[in-house]
Amino acid sequence: MFEISTSLLSAKKGKEAEIILGLEKSGTDYFHIDVMDGKFVEKDTYKRMQEISAYIKRISNLPIDVHLMVDDVISSIEDFISVEPNIITFHLEACKNEDEIFQAIELIKQNNSRVGIAIKPDTKIEEIYKYLPYIHVALVMTVEPGKGGQTLITDMVSKIEKLSTYIKENDLDTVIEVDGGINLATCEDVKQAGAELLVSGTAILMAKDYKQIIDELKK
Ligand code: DX5
Ligand code: ZN
Repeated sequence: MFEISTSLLSAKKGKEAEIILGLEKSGTDYFHIDVMDGKFVEKDTYKRMQEISAYIKRISNLPIDVHLMVDDVISSIEDFISVEPNIITFHLEACKNEDEIFQAIELIKQNNSRVGIAIKPDTKIEEIYKYLPYIHVALVMTVEPGKGGQTLITDMVSKIEKLSTYIKENDLDTVIEVDGGINLATCEDVKQAGAELLVSGTAILMAKDYKQIIDELKK
């Protein structure tokens, strides 16, 4: 069963309620919250994503999928706990050492969210293996983190395959999430490779009919 997490990164100011309620009606499984601190990546969406996630909390019961593209992982987790996200994902590359990674994992679990670790396109898939038994979601970035509307990096498909094989061979139940450039042209490849949770922003928000594209992406 495939699930869709719609990124609200490019949700137009003033249209948030219409977009959130429209997506809820159209069957998105999660709202994907792209938190950028202007340091780990160039853009700074921190305040806006805090506002949007607090707003979702008020008007929708759908789960929130927080993607932290930040240098200061621990304090960002603390900032987003308040919206009770279903998933909080942080970047492996933002952590200075293994202690910080396990500290982040613990902090997220203590606050009853599922834990995700994200890796950038240039990070070797093997680097995440040792954390898989302790986390719920492995987020494979299929674009360079930092902005929406980019084209999927096709080399990432074999990276997803490799991860999926490793998860199966080691009897793990980590969910593979993919993020960046996911649309009707690219979703089949990543699903066949083993992705189960698909993030999509531009392809869905640009569509006239959210439900039609969400149904197509999930097929
Ligand atoms: C990029 C974000 C992605 C992005 C997805 O740094 O992590 O979630 O917003 O948007 P599209 O689907 O437009 O690539
Ligand atoms: Zn994202």
